[in-house]
Amino acid sequence: VIHGKELVEPIVIKLGGSVITIKEKPYTVNHDAIKRLSKIIFTNYSAGKRLVLVHGGGSFGHTAVSEISQRKGILDVIDVAFVQYKMLELATIITKAFIDEGIPVTLYPGHVLCRKSADCNFELLYEDLENGLVPMTYGDIVYGDRGYAIISGDDLAFWISSALGARKIYFVTSKPGVLDKEGQIIRRVTNIDQVSDLGIKGYDVTGGMKKKVHAALEYSSNHDVEIRILDIDGLEKVLGGGEAGSIIVDSQKRLVNRGRRK
Ligand SMILES: Nc1ncnc2c1ncn2[C@@H]1O[C@H](COP(=O)(O)OP(=O)(O)OP(=O)(O)O)[C@@H](O)[C@H]1O
Ligand SMILES: [Mg+2]
Repeated sequence: VIHGKELVEPIVIKLGGSVITIKEKPYTVNHDAIKRLSKIIFTNYSAGKRLVLVHGGGSFGHTAVSEISQRKGILDVIDVAFVQYKMLELATIITKAFIDEGIPVTLYPGHVLCRKSADCNFELLYEDLENGLVPMTYGDIVYGDRGYAIISGDDLAFWISSALGARKIYFVTSKPGVLDKEGQIIRRVTNIDQVSDLGIKGYDVTGGMKKKVHAALEYSSNHDVEIRILDIDGLEKVLGGGEAGSIIVDSQKRLVNRGRRK
């Protein structure tokens, strides 16, 4: 927890690219989904919840990176600039929709918060959160001395949660949870072997559902946190105090102190 101060239950919500965009259609925003999310987020913000938002790349970031790497093999500075621009374009569309609904979103490009993998600074974001704004960032790309690196929105959500001591992290996706082969929601995922990769539509450069669950299991093993994977309906339910989606909790979870990192 930055500054040693404790925020009122910050909740980190990752708005998956699978829900805010139409993943199989290049550069296509899902306006209906963004509208629905804006209403839910506004309701909960108004009720006093402290929220931090992270959104994914969907058919913007993933498509741009995949198309360029298929064409050129490697991303150069100009390509990185282009991918950053496409992500900013998506981010501004979401920001506008949220502000129109009354959510005071303050936007931080992912490449402004983080370099390479975990080299991040969330001080400004924290200050904004304390002052009543709703910080939002997104999965992004950076260029460094060893070429380009993708900053996954899922990872950003975990890094921010860790820095801010969030106790709840919700991953909103196009699916109502982690599904088994029959399409049923696995209510409690405690081990990666429970999860089969059912494939995705469109491009994905950060690993999709299985990688998300893997990262969530790892994070839950040393943080006191409730991690859920759910869809928009599920988000509305759990923010309202109900039950929905899949809970991801490592079966080997060992906690020393509530809310403290080991
Ligand atoms: N077992 C599974 N349960 C649920 N979804 C699965 C499973 N296996 C694969 N998927 C696919 O994974 C997708 C979610 O992962 P994906 O990375 O595409 O979404 P996201 O993280 O919301 O998007 P982004 O990475 O752009 O933010 C779902 O839309 C679904 O098609
Ligand atoms: Mg993903």
